[in-house]
Amino acid sequence: MRISIIGSGYVGLTTGVGFALKNHKVWFVDVDKRKVDMINRATSPIYEPGLEEALREVHSKGLVRATLSYEEAIKSTEITFIAVPTPTKDDGSIDLRFIENVSRSIGEALKDKDKHIVVVKSTVLPGITENVVKEIIKQVSKNDNIYFAMNPEFLREGRAMEDVLNPDRVVIGVEDEYAKEKLLSLYKDFVSEDRILIMPIRSAELVKYSSNAFLSMKISYSNLIGRLAKRLGIDVYEVMDAVGMDKRIGRDFLNAGLGFGGSCFPKDVKALSYFTKSLNVRNTLWEEVLEINETQIGELINIMKSVVGSLKGKEIVVLGLSFKPDTDDIRESRALKLIKKLIDEKAEKVYAHDPIAIDNAKKELSHDKVEYIYDLQDALSRADIVVIATEWEMYKNEELYKDKIVFDGRRVIRGEHARYYEGLSW
Ligand code: UGA
Repeated sequence: MRISIIGSGYVGLTTGVGFALKNHKVWFVDVDKRKVDMINRATSPIYEPGLEEALREVHSKGLVRATLSYEEAIKSTEITFIAVPTPTKDDGSIDLRFIENVSRSIGEALKDKDKHIVVVKSTVLPGITENVVKEIIKQVSKNDNIYFAMNPEFLREGRAMEDVLNPDRVVIGVEDEYAKEKLLSLYKDFVSEDRILIMPIRSAELVKYSSNAFLSMKISYSNLIGRLAKRLGIDVYEVMDAVGMDKRIGRDFLNAGLGFGGSCFPKDVKALSYFTKSLNVRNTLWEEVLEINETQIGELINIMKSVVGSLKGKEIVVLGLSFKPDTDDIRESRALKLIKKLIDEKAEKVYAHDPIAIDNAKKELSHDKVEYIYDLQDALSRADIVVIATEWEMYKNEELYKDKIVFDGRRVIRGEHARYYEGLSW
């Protein structure tokens, strides 16, 4: 198949490279010339394990091409995926700026095009594919030969290639046979047919929010049990290992700690909560999920204070800045929120380390009290108080923490050699 993908971020790029690995020809469209040039040189603009190798492979076979031009990409292809961000505004409503602009540009490029399918991969609330994307494209293109679909993406950053190539399930929201058959034949190469779920477009849109909100809820649930466990001197991980062994519950996403960050969970739960209220459906569940998440950092700060007293004037090492390991993404990272809180508490200096996210962190948080240190040993040599904020593999070595006072926000170590060790909920 000939496929165009609008937006070369985590979702667009990894999905497109995944299609190309199955021998489909893929055109990437992006407004960022730097990204376009990098993809055309077979260099990945984002860090994602396995992505650059895969990109090199499909590039060498002539299966991928990036362009700034919608016209070029859409005219050369038969199906277009939209994979641009859908951020949340401050009030919790979904921000459709990118989706609307992209839909207009797609509409322009589809003016005289023959049969074409437009698939929304971006996370959008129920109704948006039909009422916004389809409406705009039909209005601008005046073309009746366009078919629409919604196909949510469930990949995790840091494991994106793995998830794209081996999805648990594929959800396809469609309203006609043509788009259904095309998408079925595209995805049959990735997953067995019983794991491809066909449904109305709005249902597919809701599956995505429902999945992300459920996983967020599992995390906040564990964090709440974690607070209880901490006060009782119980290790919440021991409890959750047992709870999660019940097949009906499952052990995944029950890891208590500093909470969830990233570009999806916080914004999706906020948007779902706002949307639910706008339909006059009473709900407090998702607000509670977010509230627990936001206050986890305060829980850790209180634990730190109970051990070392006031944080005023203290020098502190913070390990891990990305929102989770194996990514350089710092969006909604709990670690950066924690550092801001340490500064609010008047800490004298924060020495911040991360194996790959420092450059991104610097853009988000630059402060004279924060010094970013690229070398782990060097960072650890700067102060005695250490906080582990992201569970990078390299932090798992007990020897690193000899004679340190360690506060573990992700249950990374046992603190065998530490002078003092305290976990957030264990
Ligand atoms: C999440 C979903 O897992 C994907 O299925 C989805 O496609 C994606 O959002 C999206 O909507 O695009 P991602 O944000 O990449 O993926 O990362 P996760 O691995 O889900 O982790 C999210 C956050 O939850 C991280 O900050 C992580 O540290 C935290 N987390 C995760 C916990 O605190 N405890 C856990 O047990 C698991």
